[in-house]
Amino acid sequence: MSNGRESDTPEQAAESSGRRPPTSFVEQANAADESIYETFETTWPDCWEAAAARLAWDESYDTVLSGDGPPFEWFAGGTLNASYNCLDRHLEAGGKNRVAIKWESRTGDTRVYTYQDLSREVNEFAAGLRELGVEEDDVVTLYMPNIPELPIAMLACARIGAPHNVVFAGLSADALATRLESAESNYLVTCDGYYRRGNPVLLKRKADDARLSVDHDIRETVVVDRLDGDTHLGETQHDYHELVERHAGAAVDPVERAANDCLFLIHTSGTTGEPKKVKHTTGGYLAHVAWTTETVLDLGPADTYLSTANIGWISGHSYVVYGPLAVGSTVVMYEGAPDYPEKDRLWNLVESNAVDVFYTAPTVIRSFMKWGSEYPAAHDLSSLRLLGTVGEPINPRAWEWYHEHVGGGRCPIVDTWWQTETGGMMVTTLPGVDEMKPGSVGRPLPGIDAQVVDASGSECGPNEPGYLVVRRPWPGMPHALLDGTRWADGQSVPADIDGWFYFTGDGARRDDDGYITVLGRVDDVINVSGHRLGTMEVESAIVDVDHVVEAAVVSIDDPQAEGIYAYVTVEADVTGDDATRKRIEDRVRERIGPIAIPEEIVFTPDLPKTRSGKIMRRFLENITNGEDFGDTSTLRNPEVVGELESIVRNRTDVSEE
Ligand code: PRX
Repeated sequence: MSNGRESDTPEQAAESSGRRPPTSFVEQANAADESIYETFETTWPDCWEAAAARLAWDESYDTVLSGDGPPFEWFAGGTLNASYNCLDRHLEAGGKNRVAIKWESRTGDTRVYTYQDLSREVNEFAAGLRELGVEEDDVVTLYMPNIPELPIAMLACARIGAPHNVVFAGLSADALATRLESAESNYLVTCDGYYRRGNPVLLKRKADDARLSVDHDIRETVVVDRLDGDTHLGETQHDYHELVERHAGAAVDPVERAANDCLFLIHTSGTTGEPKKVKHTTGGYLAHVAWTTETVLDLGPADTYLSTANIGWISGHSYVVYGPLAVGSTVVMYEGAPDYPEKDRLWNLVESNAVDVFYTAPTVIRSFMKWGSEYPAAHDLSSLRLLGTVGEPINPRAWEWYHEHVGGGRCPIVDTWWQTETGGMMVTTLPGVDEMKPGSVGRPLPGIDAQVVDASGSECGPNEPGYLVVRRPWPGMPHALLDGTRWADGQSVPADIDGWFYFTGDGARRDDDGYITVLGRVDDVINVSGHRLGTMEVESAIVDVDHVVEAAVVSIDDPQAEGIYAYVTVEADVTGDDATRKRIEDRVRERIGPIAIPEEIVFTPDLPKTRSGKIMRRFLENITNGEDFGDTSTLRNPEVVGELESIVRNRTDVSEE
């Protein structure tokens, strides 16, 4: 809002530098009253009725939160159906002809689904799933790219009370097989293939490979025809469109689910080599995402919204499908990549659909910066009123670029911190209430008790780094935290907090105003270009290669060169050469998927280790990122640090020539 005029008041000064939301935004914001923080604090946990009130309940709940410690239960006694909440109630409220999903294919064709159209196909596919034998509580695995059939299948599962288990289409056949097994899922929905940057990816072939290696029986598979080719369908494989056509006009009553019943499973990376299975509830989860969609993303039925999230990850589940459809917005979806066929693809989508709210990740913003401001500048982006970011810390320079070149200096930015485990947003500014500080995510949302503590559980002083923990239950919490089983990892640090808490795995600090700056993971999970990966997951794929003895992976902490560095030791009589590198890359692709392939593979005779033999990744991180590595006296083999540093420096010097 810089207009070159002198500002009269500190508020105007803050507004003109872009830190306060503009008055025009505040005046229309869904949440614009500062008192919401106080109200939620004094009425906790009943404050969360405000979120539950966003939903239509079949049976209203008796208690907002029950339990003083695990087990907890949100909205006990309440029943509802998520698909009813995302579809039927909008039809009943006169929204049948409003656009629910507008989808653009990679070739620029569009498909438009009104809420009525979406409801029709969800009902038909739900009837189809029933025909195939899917019953309430059967887990249906969905392995599909960003095509409309994915949200349709999710809502069809929700309609019949069958939890879905979406697996990101970029993951490998092995990764799909592990997730089918972990979810004990007997049903699979996939598609024949799709195009990525102009190249076909044969998804069904991967799905067939996975089926062969799963121990249990995959009873039925449904295949969406996306490539318009002749796909061979086996005996228990069904064409999606034929199945839907067979049930044309079907009406399937939404199954009444208890608030605590599972809506979906999703797998993410943890600190063990195995994927971490996260189960979300129907009532608490949906209330949490609907409420945050309304208050943080500021969306309502009149809005058009675009997110770059892939539905295969939690950000797509919560803020492409469930949140925006629960509040009745129009969701713009696209297939393929943001720079294919051209680098202005997203700005074209914003302009042609008059998008109001845009949500993306810092890794995408950094790509936009690399491509140049001429791409957003060539489009009319004046319909935008709010921008969001999620997934990793955003550096202030990227924040400023986003604010200026996409938001025209006019749109507030919400930097939203949350995780697969939290289900929905936890720490962020409320765009109609709070001042923004680039690089800091903001205060915990009303009702959320997120704190930065030291290893003994005491709150850290201002600006002191510590562990980010959540000390009170929240509606979107997953079953493992509700019932107290947690997961195999993430329980040990910080150790001594009294009472219940959830350790997020992130380090953070808090300033004098209570704003939290997230410093990144402090456990064995790394964030690479917005993708969460477990170091163990990648390392166990690497050591699976013949002649590899040991491996340690770290992430490159440089916006210009995102990726993984792998430090690998091979048997003494073998040389680490390009052929070994290729075998490592192939194995990682096969076990996890292309997202985990290392940018650099450095062969080393040894890895820095403590006297007890634990690999000290911290030193490798410092070496990789050209940072001072400090005291090496705790190492059994301190000399290796210097050796590795010179290997890495030489590699960098060569690549910079
Ligand atoms: O390290 C934090 C980072 O992403 C992790 C969660 O990853 P995932 O479960 O894949 O979910 C990503 C989308 C919700 C967190 O532990 N993270 C997420 N949002 C932010 C962030 N780091 C800094 N700032 C954020 N806004």
